[in-house]
Amino acid sequence: MKSRSLVNGSLLVVLIALLVWLFSMPDVPASAEFPRAPEAIERGAYLTVAGGCISCHRGETDPDSLSGGLALETDFGVFYAPNITPNKATGIGDWTARQFILALKHGRSPSGSFYYPAFPYRAYGNLADQDLLEIGAYLRSLEPVSHQTPNPETPFWLKRWSVAFWNALADLSQANQSDYDDELVSRGAYLARNLGHCGECHTPRNGLGIPDLSREFAGTELGDEIIEPINAAALESWSSDNFSLFLLIGLKPDGEFAGGDMNDVIEHNTSKLTNQDRDALAAFFTRQQK
Ligand code: HEC
Ligand code: HEC
Repeated sequence: MKSRSLVNGSLLVVLIALLVWLFSMPDVPASAEFPRAPEAIERGAYLTVAGGCISCHRGETDPDSLSGGLALETDFGVFYAPNITPNKATGIGDWTARQFILALKHGRSPSGSFYYPAFPYRAYGNLADQDLLEIGAYLRSLEPVSHQTPNPETPFWLKRWSVAFWNALADLSQANQSDYDDELVSRGAYLARNLGHCGECHTPRNGLGIPDLSREFAGTELGDEIIEPINAAALESWSSDNFSLFLLIGLKPDGEFAGGDMNDVIEHNTSKLTNQDRDALAAFFTRQQK
């Protein structure tokens, strides 16, 4: 009897330790600060475009602002992109830089709660803090708009706290992503995997909605929309110039134009990048062909 209660006791300790670990706040220095220099805010404006924030957060009622409200329909419910203008009551006006990093890189809200992964915080997880803080500085320079966005509509079994377990599983299945010697390819990898989060749509997911990185960019289906593969096999006949041109105007080498959600990505994100960044994405995606 005694040894059994000892076993039970240690299991309980392990369980508690596990829960503490799952729910603990990630370590982000309280000393983080948003930069104030105009050049930093300007870089932030560019990074906000490259990060595709506008596609989801543009205002439903006021499309020129980032006041949110667009509904993202997924297999796991309907999620609404919140207001990320500096309005204090309905936006992120009183957020600290630390809270901003916790949200964007770790999916944790200022109250310690968990965001749903409809918000691509896992892709943003490897962004340089400096880049993120410049994005934050830019957002804070915008006109505050008062607009309360709806709460997500999820099935009864899906609660914010359950995302703690999802995050841990997603961490476990994370493949080691390679580094590249070529500077342009590395920049392209950062834009594709992190800032531009191309894999959020183009990488297939398992039954839990966790991206299957062993099939990175292998294409998938989103509702009734087919999302083509953009891995090496699929891009065999694309040159890097073909790819850059596609990111600028949506024209494919076979003469077809992009449709569906990709149009939005091209309009609000890739067409507004510098030529160098489009070439970096092209170099990354077509690197095997060289
Ligand atoms: C694919 C759509 C999508 C993209 C792209 C996206 N977001 Fe979001 N974002 C969301 C959703 C959905 C939520 C809310 C998730 C929830 O309710 O748990 C969110 C939440 C947030 C929050 C928390 C706001 C709050 O009030 O709690 C911030 C801050 C944020 N996003 C900033 C950004 C920034 C900055 C970018 C670009 C670098 C970005 N998002 C890109 C969909 C997106
Ligand atoms: C919001 C979802 C979404 C995101 C994010 C996204 N794509 Fe796409 N992409 C699509 C869809 C949908 C299609 C299919 C469009 C069509 O039917 O013409 C597509 C098609 C493409 C194609 C054409 C493939 C072919 O063989 O016809 C390329 C290339 C491409 N995307 C590159 C990218 C890159 C690079 C990024 C990141 C900067 C990206 N996509 C991000 C949804 C997305």
